[in-house]
Amino acid sequence: MTHIDHLKSICKLEGIQVVDVGAGDGVYSRDLYAAGAKVTAIEIDPDKVAKAKEDLPRHIDVRLGAAEDLPLDSGSQDLACLFFSLHHIPVEVQHTAFTEIRRVLGSSGRLHIVEPYPYGTMFYVVRLVEDETLVRTHSHETLNHLDGVDGFRLENKKEYVLTREYPTFEAFLEKIVWPDPDRSRAYEKVSSDMEDAFNRSVETLDGKIVLHQPCAAYHFIVSC
Ligand SMILES: C[S@@+](CC[C@H](N)C(=O)[O-])C[C@H]1O[C@@H](n2cnc3c(N)ncnc32)[C@H](O)[C@@H]1O
Repeated sequence: MTHIDHLKSICKLEGIQVVDVGAGDGVYSRDLYAAGAKVTAIEIDPDKVAKAKEDLPRHIDVRLGAAEDLPLDSGSQDLACLFFSLHHIPVEVQHTAFTEIRRVLGSSGRLHIVEPYPYGTMFYVVRLVEDETLVRTHSHETLNHLDGVDGFRLENKKEYVLTREYPTFEAFLEKIVWPDPDRSRAYEKVSSDMEDAFNRSVETLDGKIVLHQPCAAYHFIVSC
């Protein structure tokens, strides 16, 4: 299962206007675009914005911006997506972010949020350099209580497991630790524990070395 395969199973993407909030380097903006959507990618980190602008197809509109102050016109979007980004948005501005999402969706639209759980082999290894237990728990609590609030109606919730492939521990560090300065600093103190945790946690699936990240996708119909 991938995020976009699941999203496509519940919502038509061809021709609709989609904003990918907290897009990172734009991996899912690219998938949304490939599925036929007109995509705007919003990201708060200027380095990631610069990289996404360089790497993504030019029809994807990449903008620097924050979930709590979206640089988009009111009513301009059909669907807002947040893939693993809600728990990165500071808790004190999440309510404003939901208000902003309602504003850009206008009188009707959809909101699709996927959040990782604070468990799974991926989580058990990464938490040594960044423990997201509290923020992930808070996100799921928020999403489980959003149905019926402020025009959000939960249409679908699905749990699935993402499988991430890392042929070696070095490849894992390259993807997950080195791009983040805080994680890189934390790694210096836990390097051997982390390598042990990685070697204990990885599984072989179809000949590939993988870690698992369970997650839940919440799909809301939004109206005002
Ligand atoms: C774990 S990454 C997920 C990136 C991408 N959605 C993916 O799944 O590959 C979370 C992203 O949210 C971004 N972010 C954090 N706070 C944000 C905010 N207030 N507004 C917009 N993006 C934010 C981070 O900079 C980061 O790129």
